[in-house]
Amino acid sequence: MLILGIETSCDETSVAVICDGKEILSNIILSQTIHSKFGGVVPEVASRSHLKTIVPIYQEALEKAGVTLDQIDLIAATMGPGLVGPLLVGLTFAKGLAFASSKPFVPVNHIEGHLSANYLQHPELDKHHISLIVSGGHTLLVEVMDFGDYRIMGNTKDDAVGEAFDKVAKIMGLGYPGGAKVDKLAQSGNPSHIKFPRAFLKDEGYAFSYSGLKTAVALYIEKLNEQEFEDQKEDIAASFQEAAVDVLVRKTLRAAREHNVKHITLSGGVAANSRLRSMFTEHIVGRGINLFYPSIELCTDNAAMIATAGYLRYLKDGPGELIANAIPYLKLSDI
Ligand code: KG4
Ligand code: ZN
Repeated sequence: MLILGIETSCDETSVAVICDGKEILSNIILSQTIHSKFGGVVPEVASRSHLKTIVPIYQEALEKAGVTLDQIDLIAATMGPGLVGPLLVGLTFAKGLAFASSKPFVPVNHIEGHLSANYLQHPELDKHHISLIVSGGHTLLVEVMDFGDYRIMGNTKDDAVGEAFDKVAKIMGLGYPGGAKVDKLAQSGNPSHIKFPRAFLKDEGYAFSYSGLKTAVALYIEKLNEQEFEDQKEDIAASFQEAAVDVLVRKTLRAAREHNVKHITLSGGVAANSRLRSMFTEHIVGRGINLFYPSIELCTDNAAMIATAGYLRYLKDGPGELIANAIPYLKLSDI
């Protein structure tokens, strides 16, 4: 079965063709660099940019996969959560294609898309697992009973962890988006130089909070003169990253222990973080736990993960409706 996936929920225009939910034939991703000069995504600019590029990206995805629209069996597109204008571009394009070609269509929840990147790359994954979804918009800890059957364990009370990375990058003058830049800078820093707060670490529950950490970094930097900041910036990045990641790792491992689960998955843009991956790896040694995460390209927004989620949804529930609308605040629990 050939699935065409379309993703335009934020600032990546992406179209992919995958086969049977396990093989990527093409996954074209265009990241809109124009937003860096504004220090964040400008929704209207993002919508216009998606409009300009969606057709050529779609054509490129088919060409790279070596297929024509006639050969596609299913069309899937992100319906939410995300920015309404950008979502509408990809969703409307996908629905138009499906209508014109009389092919089944499935609207996809972007969060389920992130989670599904692991199904695409790790077929050996246990049905029952703990999934940590960490991106610019989400910090979610989920007990996955099976694909489509989720128990939400924890969420952020304020900022998402990726948002905290982006805000700290901005304060440090690293530009937008900043997660990967903080990660790179932190590699030559000392993670125990500053003891930044770890919100809710001692708490029994699974809630997260990142706005206090971001403020703590801002207040620390405010007290430094230019030279002091220059001398310490690697250590600040490493100490911030250590605090951000520490809470994620400890709570996820506690969730796996509590539910007697042996498989853990990471997904979303922050799953690309090198310290998140290495800290998890250090902690699971000798515990009989397997850690799965997607390749870097499949952590950040891409259409291959949307095609996979669309395929799995289609197998579970059949085709969706062409009246599906964009839902900016769609939750994982809404599906
Ligand atoms: O999944 P994604 O592309 O978009 C959302 O659905 O939000 O995630 C983007 C987020 C941004 O906040 C970006 O700064 C962060 O993922 N990110 C990282 C890294 N690479 C991307 N954060 C920390 N370390 C990284 N290496
Ligand atoms: Zn995303």
